[in-house]
Amino acid sequence: MKVMVIGGGGREHAIIKKLKESKEITELYALPGNGGIAEDAVCVNIGATDIAAQVKFAAENKIDYAVVAPDDPLCLGAVDELTKAGISCFGPDKKAAIIEGSKVFSKNLMKKYGIPSAAYEVFDNPESALAYLETAPLPAVIKADGLALGKGVIIAETREDAKRAVRDIMEDKVFGKSGEKIVIEEFLTGPEVSVLSFTDGETVVPMVSSMDHKRALDGDKGLNTGGMGTIAPNPYYTPEIAKQCMEKIFLPTVNAMNAEGRTFKGCLYFGLMLTADGPKVIEYNCRFGDPETQVVLPLLESDLFTVMRAVTNGTLKNTEVRFKSGAAACVIIASGGYPVSYRKGFEIKMDESVKDSVFVAGAENKDGRLVTSGGRVLGVTATAPTLKEALCAAYEKAEKISFENAFYRRDIGLKALNAGKEN
Ligand code: AMP
Ligand code: GLY
Repeated sequence: MKVMVIGGGGREHAIIKKLKESKEITELYALPGNGGIAEDAVCVNIGATDIAAQVKFAAENKIDYAVVAPDDPLCLGAVDELTKAGISCFGPDKKAAIIEGSKVFSKNLMKKYGIPSAAYEVFDNPESALAYLETAPLPAVIKADGLALGKGVIIAETREDAKRAVRDIMEDKVFGKSGEKIVIEEFLTGPEVSVLSFTDGETVVPMVSSMDHKRALDGDKGLNTGGMGTIAPNPYYTPEIAKQCMEKIFLPTVNAMNAEGRTFKGCLYFGLMLTADGPKVIEYNCRFGDPETQVVLPLLESDLFTVMRAVTNGTLKNTEVRFKSGAAACVIIASGGYPVSYRKGFEIKMDESVKDSVFVAGAENKDGRLVTSGGRVLGVTATAPTLKEALCAAYEKAEKISFENAFYRRDIGLKALNAGKEN
């Protein structure tokens, strides 16, 4: 089978490495891929949102199956167009991808179907949002409605900061059209858990839970980033909480989407907060998380391609999805200055022994050398029987990788270990 994966980051590299294990796949393409992915798939210079070119490539090259990984092509309808052209896909169609594409949609969905989440108000003009903020509880959580490269959430401690956020989003349009509407939400507290799940619109199979580390610096300091490291499983996510989530969140969400005529097939990502009042949804994503995928898929024992096709064909109920019992840790190595401004083009040196553990996010090939081309450059993952061992191994491997101005957090997984609930 000929398979293509749309996207070109660390998540896509993790998906591709896992798909490579499938005996059924004979040819694997990445659109556009990156300098690291090129070691594992044929990279084709077609952008992740160039849907017309993707369809043309798939037709001309007789591609059997497409995995659409990033949010933007999913929300733009890549799965709809590829399916129309006769190519079987993994990922939700445009109607279902709105669960991530519009926060107003997802908040209204949760309210309508009684799915636990933070209380909220929606605003479509700055005047009423600013008036509301005069007396709103603080901190206020302000979210742009649409996709904003993971930066559309502002947690404002003061009224001044909250009002500035509203003006930035709605008047100065820092997130463009994504900020035409905003959600202002109640501030929740508690440990965060990411749960990626496979669903064919009927059955939901949660994958092993994970924990992201979003801030740039140790001790959860510094700016929000696309994610500086992950661990799996998340020790806060006990079997009892998992049961509650299945009953109160996962199945109700899939059923709600069906009731709305927006059946979701693909990877549905639940960003959860375990509050004193029980688990609540912080966000939905219509795709695999990045960098959660880099710890979740290495623990998947079953054949990813088999599971993906069961999702597409609606036969997930009869398909075994098994995970290994150990733990995984991923440390992201970034370029100095990220997430604000950073230079590119530094040569990456890595020991041969760690290559298999590396998922490349922002690097390209230049004259046979791998050089940095992004802020988050690569992730290094290790699996082991315990989280502590996985973390030690990931950090040992990280030391064998170097480029100018490289940095990484030294405390990935520390909170999970200190929770005293190491698996
Ligand atoms: P998101 O981009 O939706 O993942 O949000 C980014 C981060 O903002 C989340 O991982 C949470 O840490 C935080 N966040 C979002 N919504 C809330 C909320 N209602 N209360 C507290 N923190 C939140
Ligand atoms: N790691 C968070 C996300 O993928 O949105």
